[in-house]
Amino acid sequence: MTTTILFAANAGLWQTYRTPLGQALAEPGIDAHLSDAADPAAVDFIVYAPLSPLQDFAPFTRLRAVLSLWAGVERVVGNPTLTVPLCRMVDPALTEGMVEWVTGHVLRHHLGMDRHIRNPSREWDHTCPPLARERPVAMLGMGALGTACAEALVRLNFPVTGWSRTPRAHAAIPMLHGEAGLEQALRSASIVVTLLPRTPDTENLLDARRLAWMRIGSVILNPGRGALIDDAALIAALDAGRIAHATLDVFRTEPLPIDHPFWVHRCVTVTPHVAAATRAPSASRAIVENIRRAIAGEPLLHLVDRARGY
Ligand code: NDP
Ligand code: OXD
Repeated sequence: MTTTILFAANAGLWQTYRTPLGQALAEPGIDAHLSDAADPAAVDFIVYAPLSPLQDFAPFTRLRAVLSLWAGVERVVGNPTLTVPLCRMVDPALTEGMVEWVTGHVLRHHLGMDRHIRNPSREWDHTCPPLARERPVAMLGMGALGTACAEALVRLNFPVTGWSRTPRAHAAIPMLHGEAGLEQALRSASIVVTLLPRTPDTENLLDARRLAWMRIGSVILNPGRGALIDDAALIAALDAGRIAHATLDVFRTEPLPIDHPFWVHRCVTVTPHVAAATRAPSASRAIVENIRRAIAGEPLLHLVDRARGY
């Protein structure tokens, strides 16, 4: 029987995905009708990005699952018309990109690269940075992305502590959880990386009180979601010199408004939500694996838990 798959994403993505998705469907031999427009009553699966005009899932009466092209699902998870399973994106190439962004920006701050890249007064400052093993890192969020980044940093000798919502164990990384664990992680790190989803529990997680737990002169990297950090509290901590630098990839409003103070703050680096991108060939294989599983009656991968919001 033919499976009908609707591709519903922001304009332009259909052209990027139609061939790789078609190829990925052919590999396991799935007989599919793949399209960016279909009779809702005939659709079995929706490949979805939240910027799609499709916001009402109610007319999709035989829908079996929605497969998100995004890792972060905060824009769709609370949609009351979505009653079928929702799977988030876990894509090896997305993970690879995030590992490169995080290790690159950690190394920038660790090695103090900026003072050599721009040195207009030609200062011969012979101060060498400490070794990575002397620069503790806290990874807030130890899911698909946080764990891969933490493991890459451990391979570079950084002592990494992980923090997650539930108690977890990792063979090479001490793990913490809960409020006391967050305080311990923040107090012990020189570099803090936030790779948490946006949920009601993580909104403003790093507020003035918790930012004050960070070491004087420490650095924060946020490739998770803008809402994890209280913007005003972060600017106050940077102005006071308590936090030395913030490298931010994600923001409450994107694109970051032109008059936002982050653009001009000398201790902030803005990257425009480029930390990691979903790549069509590998993301298509991830989507098709879940379609194959659904058809075969096997459990879906990377199911979103609506109650916890990620
Ligand atoms: P996962 O769902 O795999 O992992 C989420 C992690 O966050 C888990 O370790 C989870 O804990 C932890 N967590 C969730 N809520 C809390 C909480 N209240 N307190 C403490 N820990 C919490 O997500 P991914 O690693 O795949 O992605 C993380 C986020 O990265 C995405 O949600 C998205 O926002 C962002 N992202 C950004 C991109 C970019 O280009 N900037 C690209 C892709 C993703 P537990 O293990 O206990 O469940
Ligand atoms: C995201 C993504 O969630 O790009 O930011 O997948």
